[in-house]
Amino acid sequence: MLILGIESSCDETAASVVEISHGKTKVLSNVVSSQIKIHKKYGGVVPEVAARKHAEVIFDVVAEALKQGNKKTKKQKDKSLLTSLLKREGLEGIDLIAVTEGPGLVTSLRVGVLAGQTIAALAKKPLVGVNHIEAHLLSPFLSNKKIKFPALGLVVSGGHTELILVKDFGKYKIIGTTRDDAVGEAFDKVAKILGLGYPGGPAIAKAAEKNISHNSPQPPLTLRGGVKLPRPMLNSDDFDFSFSGLKTAVLYLAKKMTPAELKKLTPVIAAEFQQAAVEVLVAKTKKAAEKYKTKAILVGGGVIANQELRKALRGLDYPVFLPELQYTGDNATMIAFAGYHKYLRKKKNEVFNIAAEPNLGI
Ligand code: KG4
Ligand code: ZN
Repeated sequence: MLILGIESSCDETAASVVEISHGKTKVLSNVVSSQIKIHKKYGGVVPEVAARKHAEVIFDVVAEALKQGNKKTKKQKDKSLLTSLLKREGLEGIDLIAVTEGPGLVTSLRVGVLAGQTIAALAKKPLVGVNHIEAHLLSPFLSNKKIKFPALGLVVSGGHTELILVKDFGKYKIIGTTRDDAVGEAFDKVAKILGLGYPGGPAIAKAAEKNISHNSPQPPLTLRGGVKLPRPMLNSDDFDFSFSGLKTAVLYLAKKMTPAELKKLTPVIAAEFQQAAVEVLVAKTKKAAEKYKTKAILVGGGVIANQELRKALRGLDYPVFLPELQYTGDNATMIAFAGYHKYLRKKKNEVFNIAAEPNLGI
């Protein structure tokens, strides 16, 4: 089955063509048009700007994914996607269209949903709406076939921090979540406090690298300039998280310093913040995997691009499955994959009954 995936929930416009047959997944194209440069100057994503930009590029992004992915479309590279659609050429190889319906920024989601509905209706192909969190959760399947259920899923992104019990495709139970900020959001806010720019995750990781000894993931406190940050909810009885206090601790620390001191200690603070976040995430994941006796741990979302988190999770005594770096951030390949499984379960064409759902739950 050939699936066209479309994603536009935040600041990436993405389209992919994925082939799934006999349990084998082959990614034929993975096109991502990022708006990071545009939002950088505002220090974060501006929803109205994001939606307008999605609308500007989405059909070009889809056309590029089809061109790269579907050999048939290569023949007609001079035609616009609309011309191809009206003649229903180029898309006849595609069996299913999958689009993110939520959660995310409502105006951004609407652009993707509308594009998906338009393409599906003109091409006379079925369309399914995909949950963005489910797609992140399943992203390790793109490169690993042998993942056994029940599995424990950890989704760490800019908007979500979720521990999810995965009994099967489509059978999910949230067992822990953040009580305030998502972990990616905390990285972004701390980066802002430290003057490291947007997006914060990669900026914090880069600053922290200057301070991390390669032999020890947790250098002695003296090496960390005496900076010690809290590990919120590390020992709580539940599987919930809280990252707002950690961010505020950085803010208070920064406020006590002169600009010169702050600049000097930025790598130290970045490393300590990253270490605190990693420790809490890994400890809760381990505890949940033990309690629910899961056979595997799956992790997805933008924050799993973080090398220290990857290292720490891989150190757990469990089969741990992480997505390849290109599938950690927002992409349409994971949408196509999750959409395929939803279609297998429901066999339902949702072309006229999906809508953007900014608060969609898993
Ligand atoms: O999954 P994603 O691309 O979008 C959402 O669905 O939210 O995640 C984006 C988040 C941002 O908060 C970004 O700062 C974070 O992932 N991120 C990282 C790293 N790369 C991206 N956080 C920590 N370390 C990284 N290397
Ligand atoms: Zn995401």
